[in-house]
Amino acid sequence: MADRESILVVDDDLNTLKMVEQFLLIKKYDVTTCLTFRDALRELGKGSFSAAVIDYFMPDTTGLKMMKAFHKIDPELAVMVLTASRDIKIAVETIKQGAFHYLVKPVDPDELYINLDKAFKNRSLVLENRRLKLDLQDKYKFNDIVGESGRMMEVFEMTMRAAKVRSTTLVIGETGSGKELIARAIHFNSDRAGGPFIGVNCSALPESLLEAELFGIEKNVATGVDARIGKFEAANNGTLFLDEIGDMSPATQSKVLRAMQEREIERVGSHVSRKVDIRIIAATNRDLAKAIEEKEFRQDLFYRLNVLMISLPPLRDRSGDIPKLIDHFLAKYSSENKMNLKEIDPEAIAKLMEHHWPGNVRELENSIERAYVMCDEDSIGVRHLPAYILNSTGAAPFAPVSSGPTAEAGGALEDMVNDYERGLILSALEKNDWKQNRAAGGMGISERSMWYKIKKLGIEIKKGSSKGG
Ligand SMILES: Nc1ncnc2c1ncn2[C@@H]1O[C@H](COP(=O)(O)OP(=O)(O)OP(=O)(O)O)[C@@H](O)[C@H]1O
Ligand SMILES: [Mg+2]
Repeated sequence: MADRESILVVDDDLNTLKMVEQFLLIKKYDVTTCLTFRDALRELGKGSFSAAVIDYFMPDTTGLKMMKAFHKIDPELAVMVLTASRDIKIAVETIKQGAFHYLVKPVDPDELYINLDKAFKNRSLVLENRRLKLDLQDKYKFNDIVGESGRMMEVFEMTMRAAKVRSTTLVIGETGSGKELIARAIHFNSDRAGGPFIGVNCSALPESLLEAELFGIEKNVATGVDARIGKFEAANNGTLFLDEIGDMSPATQSKVLRAMQEREIERVGSHVSRKVDIRIIAATNRDLAKAIEEKEFRQDLFYRLNVLMISLPPLRDRSGDIPKLIDHFLAKYSSENKMNLKEIDPEAIAKLMEHHWPGNVRELENSIERAYVMCDEDSIGVRHLPAYILNSTGAAPFAPVSSGPTAEAGGALEDMVNDYERGLILSALEKNDWKQNRAAGGMGISERSMWYKIKKLGIEIKKGSSKGG
């Protein structure tokens, strides 16, 4: 610990106050002393203390009240209570309520030092844990969700709005388009972030098991089934993520609807209602309007779920995001596996932008991982991509017409690739102050092939350009 620990001492008895102060100064702690509760509160509000040593009996308050007030300002403040020997019961009660320890008057300095030491170690563990938890939450902050296309901007804006309220939210989108990622982002950016995020896949289980999974089950002596709490209860004070809700049976749908309306559930085999405080986010890749028409999904449940709706665009409709996603997954893969960061050839990027991506971002992520494994060089090329991507024509066999660029004729494709390559080279040159060798290095190509591409693509070299840098 770089800084000296600061300790606040509060006692209405000047002698005790001075004595404790002396003890602490010997150990080179920063000490602030107060004779009254009011002064103590003011001091605490001004600076940050690691610990407080407080007298239990004060003219204007008790140690317990004082501690509670201190903890409102700093929940991690280690509080030590000073009592007379006959008040041990009171001291123990204070500990139950959150005091770190008590010391019997007259204060024994060694006991004081040992307990302060323990308190500081404990405090730094708590703070470290909290930091780790925040790091974990950061994972689901927006910087890990890649997307700059207009449709994704709309998604981010809705996600932010959803995070500010507790309204039920429906996330729709094709498989692998990022529904769970968005659901987690909503939770971890909401005031429920400290509570649990509990996901349940409604399509993975048969009806009877799903109900026990959702609502829990009461102990049944006859069948020997043990009691178990369900996901609704487990998500209390947090968020329940009902994934693949479109695949839920009509009977379970009515039970979920009831639970959402009443905000209470009954475990299977029990008639006791239990209150739950949860925020629900549901997701599906099914067309719910069609499912309602076909009487497979309850319309009233749909209205309950669809208070806020976030619709994720398929990757093929935002292929402009593909290069950024590729960079993101290359960085993620190399850092997870502690391997060198690899580059990727413009030709390979162009190939990936052409693909139809029925499996959306998940499919892209898997392709990048595979290419990484297959590539022994520093730069991933077309030959490292999965064969089915290389053979893809750009349009999916049965896919709906996409609004993104399509490549029908061979000539059009070549133009698109050239355009794209030109854009990449121009931006590499601009980034590298028009130094061709540096831009070539950055793109993982030789200087010679950079020169060739500049000629072939008719790129005009600007400013004080040079071959060297
Ligand atoms: N915009 C994005 N930026 C970065 N990674 C993303 C993005 N969208 C999705 N991913 C990644 O793609 C993978 C699939 O995302 P996710 O599981 O959220 O999809 P899903 O829509 O829930 O899929 P499914 O319908 O199959 O359950 C995850 O590894 C996720 O981290
Ligand atoms: Mg999912």
